Amino acid sequence: MTTRKVIFDTDPGVDDATALLFLLADPAVELLGLTTVWGNATVETTTRNALFLKERFGFHAPVAKGAAGSIRGGSVETDPAIHGQNGLGDIELPEPGDARIDPRPAHRFIIDTVRANPGEVTILAVGPMTNLALALREDAGFASLVKEVVIMGGAFGYNGHLGNVSPSAEANIWNDPEAADMVFAADWPLVAIGLDATMETLMSNAYLADLRDASGAVGQFVWDITRSYAGFYHSVMGVDGIFAHDSLAAAYLTAPELVSTRAGAIRVVLDDFVRGLTVQRPDTRKHEVEGWENRRSHLIATGVDATAFLALYKQRMVELSTR
Ligand code: BDR
Ligand code: CA
Repeated sequence: MTTRKVIFDTDPGVDDATALLFLLADPAVELLGLTTVWGNATVETTTRNALFLKERFGFHAPVAKGAAGSIRGGSVETDPAIHGQNGLGDIELPEPGDARIDPRPAHRFIIDTVRANPGEVTILAVGPMTNLALALREDAGFASLVKEVVIMGGAFGYNGHLGNVSPSAEANIWNDPEAADMVFAADWPLVAIGLDATMETLMSNAYLADLRDASGAVGQFVWDITRSYAGFYHSVMGVDGIFAHDSLAAAYLTAPELVSTRAGAIRVVLDDFVRGLTVQRPDTRKHEVEGWENRRSHLIATGVDATAFLALYKQRMVELSTR
């Protein structure tokens, strides 16, 4: 079996934690490192959560702490109503254990790891893209050594989805639109798994209860951390369950057939009331207008086989629970 070497850039975060479990369960993934970023909570909290997850689920990859705010600087806003005060659904967390942080900042860790494994590393980024943008700013040449970038981010209007923070902006893009636009401008193969697919991928409370009953302590953990997240979705959208945003992006790494895609350059609107809107120029219709010159083509997710994804996620959790 060929394995994918993966750096997981993340802001854990309830759905980030469920995505990490999927990566740990996937026999075709070799986790090289986990880099943290602000987003669902402060970077202090997301890093504490990453170290907690490392101890709780016993993975060996280093954890490197990343950006505390957007690439432009300024104040950081996080909303505890979504992922909880502690970022993990306010489950009780133990005192920090022995797991240590890598001495390098996340963006330096990313550059060093890619340069040590040229052409082999996939970066899975499921938070604001600040760490990736900082890495590009420090070492523009490293982008051409990356095998692939897969992000959870954006929304392009497929299946009626455009924004979850504003009418037009998805949260990971909204939090750092300038960073996201730098990432879309870089010379690396990139796939954006946005709300177009992830909001078609609902883990209902019945599904999560079944997962809890089928996959031991792992399933119980997923159930526990998703309770308040599901409560948020129910109160705001009347939805029963949670959207599997980051887990779907994780699944794409080794099961890309789950997702349908469209090719074309991507840009982010940086101002006005549509700040954070992601736009793709389809390769099938290359409009010759200003602003799209020299932007390489990327893929966006346009749809998903949600039934197959949910079956695969459950299968992976059952396997993880018996290890
Ligand atoms: C994205 O925003 C965060 O709240 C989630 O973890 C996910 O990465 C969904 O828009
Ligand atoms: Ca996330």
